[in-house]
Amino acid sequence: MISKKMEAALNKQLNRELFSSYLYLSMATYFENNNFVGMAQWMKLQAEEEHIHSMKFFDFIQKVGGRVILEQIDKPQSEWDSAQNAFEDALGHEEFITKNINELTDLAIAERDHSTKTFLQWYIDEQVEEEATANEIVQKFKLIGESKSGIYMLDRELGTRVITPETPSA
Ligand code: FEO
Repeated sequence: MISKKMEAALNKQLNRELFSSYLYLSMATYFENNNFVGMAQWMKLQAEEEHIHSMKFFDFIQKVGGRVILEQIDKPQSEWDSAQNAFEDALGHEEFITKNINELTDLAIAERDHSTKTFLQWYIDEQVEEEATANEIVQKFKLIGESKSGIYMLDRELGTRVITPETPSA
């Protein structure tokens, strides 16, 4: 049985993961609107992955005797200055999520809640991958600069993405 404080914190993170899905879906529409088909596909898969992240919180809260409370999901941004800018925001968002996961883990440790701490380890590993992947794409944009053919190639590359949701390296 988890504490009410832990339950509230996990519910908040469930909401943030749903927002992440919403944000990346919003980025997908931005990319589709600007004819970046591959980047749109990449973001749609990312949105799906975030939904899986949120459902893992959903299932865990219920399993440990807590109660899932679904709160309102914030409206995500819908326009960006450039494709690079959108991916920079994605990286910034992942850094924010990492901070949240670390704070949740600190709370689990403070409460001597070992099952929640163990559950969160998956997310700690996942966030390393999430940040590394987003950062790699941002670095590619920087390398490419204004080159239209470079951006075209990157769009094609990102369109080949596949996900394997259950592993942290998804
Ligand atoms: Fe659920 Fe991208 O972190």
